[in-house]
Amino acid sequence: MKKVITYGTFDLFHKGHYNILKRAKALGDYLIVGVTGENYDAERGKLSVQDSLATRIENVKKTGFADEILVEEYDGQKINDIIKTKADVLVLGLDWKGKFDHLKKYCDVVYLERTKDISSTQLRQENNRIYNYGIVTDYILNNDFIFDAEYVSGIHIESIFSENKEISSAICQRLHIDRTCVDYNQFLETVDIVYVNCETNKRFHYIKQALLQGKHVVSDSPMSLSPHEVKELYDLAEQQNVILLDNIPTVYVRTFNQLLNVVKGEVIGDIIRVNCSMSLEELSHDYSHSVYDAFYYIICILMKIFGENYKNVFIKNVDYQNDIVYGRIEFEYEHSIGYGELTKGIDHTSLMEIIGTKGRITVPQDWWKSAYFEATLYKENYTRRYCTNFEGNGFRYLIQVMLQMIKENQLQSQRLSAHDSVCIIEILKNIHI
Ligand code: CTP
Repeated sequence: MKKVITYGTFDLFHKGHYNILKRAKALGDYLIVGVTGENYDAERGKLSVQDSLATRIENVKKTGFADEILVEEYDGQKINDIIKTKADVLVLGLDWKGKFDHLKKYCDVVYLERTKDISSTQLRQENNRIYNYGIVTDYILNNDFIFDAEYVSGIHIESIFSENKEISSAICQRLHIDRTCVDYNQFLETVDIVYVNCETNKRFHYIKQALLQGKHVVSDSPMSLSPHEVKELYDLAEQQNVILLDNIPTVYVRTFNQLLNVVKGEVIGDIIRVNCSMSLEELSHDYSHSVYDAFYYIICILMKIFGENYKNVFIKNVDYQNDIVYGRIEFEYEHSIGYGELTKGIDHTSLMEIIGTKGRITVPQDWWKSAYFEATLYKENYTRRYCTNFEGNGFRYLIQVMLQMIKENQLQSQRLSAHDSVCIIEILKNIHI
């Protein structure tokens, strides 16, 4: 019996999929179809798949060509599948030409002509509204976040606004965007989503204007140093039926959510201490963060790990002298302590360590954009490593969630709510730099 194996996402099942399955089946007697798993698609940057895995499998089944269906969950799985299923032929569309020639050691590899003028990407674009995205910025350099949003399908970078015309023109040139606006209201008319990427003291004004015009907003954090103003913005967003999000990509990244689950699942026992340190240079390597921005980040992450029911919070040693900053924040909980450390101008590594009664979790350098962490259990003398893919600087995951929220008319983020933001500002306002 000649076995044929083929793979695909099979999103929004279309005639191209039907044709390739039919032709693949005709090359043998038994057809095995690998359908990509949801995590695998997310990890390889395919962020806009619409159908669930169950629906995609169901659609492949309905063709009647597949004798066996398996789920493709990781890079490199094809070799294992081919060996395990004793497949004689691997079939792929011509879009993959040459990419799987290394598998010729294991079976025949055949690339079939694609059906013309149809693809899932095209169908997604036809089905989906494209959201115009605009950026309010003060920075010409280090605004990688702008570029990262481009990877999310359904987003079109439409317009740039800067008080400084040279900055907006330079960014537009880099991004090949035609539209720069010198008038903020005019800019707002062109967009659906606004990203506020400017100095702390200007954010409130720009966010408020955008919300008043019914635009969804993602803003660098803090949005303001006044809890009242932050609350006002969230209330306004709710009234206007639009979404307002803090730009804290870490909380939207799968690795960090897995870490929270490991903590909540008490894999390392009860938490005794969390140490979370950040060097402003390492953060600003990506983007122009202020000391307040970095503290906001640290407080947010500590609160995500511990919750908001701290007994005391101390802010210590915040010195600002000759461009050197050393800041420390300490949360005291019933049975545990959370430390956050922020440095600028001194040699310091950004690490996160969570100590529990049974073990510890370590996230290496640049923990806020880490794809990796490990949990070591003391008694078992055993280390479990957790790893997921992480593309870009994480902003694309946030924008992806935001688009989903817009489509589902879900106004409040489950990852970082209005209440969370106000709690963070209540603490942050006590930091004097
Ligand atoms: N395929 C094809 N003809 C098309 C589209 C896809 O023969 N017009 C084939 C692909 O070459 C692949 C299989 O169908 O071998 C599954 O492809 P998949 O990536 O799921 O479909 P696409 O439409 O290419 O999806 P996307 O646009 O998301 O890349």
